[in-house]
Amino acid sequence: MRRLYLFDTTLRDGEQSLGITLNVKEKLEIAQQLVRLGVDVLEAGFPASSPGDFESVSTLGRELKGVTVCGLTRCIKKDIDICAEALKGAEIGRIHTGIAVSPIHMEKKLRLKPEEVIQMAEEAVRHAKKYLHDVEFYAEDAFRSERTFLARIFERVIKAGATVINIPDTVGYATPWEFGELVAYIKNNVANSDQVKISVHCHNDLGMATANALAGIMAGADQVEGTINGIGERAGNTALEEVIMAISTQKERYGVDMAVHTREIASASRLVSSITGVPVPSHKAIVGVNAFMHASGIHQDGILKAKQTYEIIDPESVGVPRNQIILSARSGRHALKHRLEELGYLIADDRLNDIYNDFLQLADKKQEIYDEDLHALMGASNPEGSKIKIIKISVATSGTQSATAAVTLEIEGAEVTDAAIGNGPVDAVFNAIDRISGNEARLEDYSIKSVSRGKEALGNATVKIFSGGNYYVGKGISTDVIDASAHAYVDALSKIK
Ligand code: KIV
Ligand code: ZN
Repeated sequence: MRRLYLFDTTLRDGEQSLGITLNVKEKLEIAQQLVRLGVDVLEAGFPASSPGDFESVSTLGRELKGVTVCGLTRCIKKDIDICAEALKGAEIGRIHTGIAVSPIHMEKKLRLKPEEVIQMAEEAVRHAKKYLHDVEFYAEDAFRSERTFLARIFERVIKAGATVINIPDTVGYATPWEFGELVAYIKNNVANSDQVKISVHCHNDLGMATANALAGIMAGADQVEGTINGIGERAGNTALEEVIMAISTQKERYGVDMAVHTREIASASRLVSSITGVPVPSHKAIVGVNAFMHASGIHQDGILKAKQTYEIIDPESVGVPRNQIILSARSGRHALKHRLEELGYLIADDRLNDIYNDFLQLADKKQEIYDEDLHALMGASNPEGSKIKIIKISVATSGTQSATAAVTLEIEGAEVTDAAIGNGPVDAVFNAIDRISGNEARLEDYSIKSVSRGKEALGNATVKIFSGGNYYVGKGISTDVIDASAHAYVDALSKIK
């Protein structure tokens, strides 16, 4: 079987999704999970684009072992110098450089002639090779380029030393059969293509990113690029977990092998969703909460007789446990730790006490604690504590719209109380918090969803705010939706630097 290399770009292309900015600590936490998942290459950012991206690439390069850490650049010497500097401490580093190659991009965006584009590409690859052996070249908007031109530019960058050539469908315009043909064309018409790995990078504008990537693999691609949960520019990127499971489910069909631990998929998906604040749709393939649920009587009957009637994937193989152990206020620290570890959370002993206290508070309100409750608890628990603490909230509503909230917060040790009115209870609470904290950040997004079961189900609130050019995401959980919303808001405010 051929080896298929997994190139994860959750932290670069995924971070380009509208309204996502990840700090270094968040990127490192996600990256460590991606390493547990077994990705081969991890694209950590675009170092020349901001000091934050530089620091991310440099920190991940220093911290991660046994994985290639990659930084993105344009075909500009300064970008490449900065990227090489960021990758200096990496055990295995790769520079990912490239330029747009379609007529519309070259003419309207770059305002360059095709020959000038080839020259820039060649020079960039040669320059990158001065720093690192491993240089990937991306031909942006390759799918809409002229094939003979694409073949020519690839041949030249391979001569200049590229080790990987990347064929992106940047605007998600391809169909699987066309994309497969393009990969085959490049393999057959670039004389030196056998000296390099061929990579595919597909966007999801027409909902075909995964299918296109798989068609590329069938046609001979050696590397597939994608993101966890399919996050990325516009409609997103290829969902890596879908490619992994499509291949794992039908290995012979694809004829490729990966070095992947599929049981880490569910943890990776939850972590990315919780840190980015981008929810996973309940029906999402592989990682949606309903992906392994059987609702209709006929299906349930079939499953009970033979699982394979309606199940093509064993949920446990992607890290979704079958046995739902129910914890309660009577469960001890050990049982909690054991269950959390089974669910993929590695808990340091000094964190266990805090988590156990949160668990007991929840178990007091809600007799039975399900796995979904534990995931929500872990998503909301803040290991470093918060700069702002909620001491008390009381809300009075009158009529259908207006509400008054009185809130007491502890900010850096001092308790402050204030009240505000609002358009409904959550708005009133947010206004009171703004008055106390002097907050001027803009509220960008707010959502609340129910997790777990029963009438005491938890409300899981997510708040996204915008301040000083950055987005901050906060999470809050509680059996009381106003309390959950207030905690999410305060969590986001606490993160503002
Ligand atoms: O979609 C794209 O073309 C890209 C390149 C930078 C690889 O993300
Ligand atoms: Zn992309």
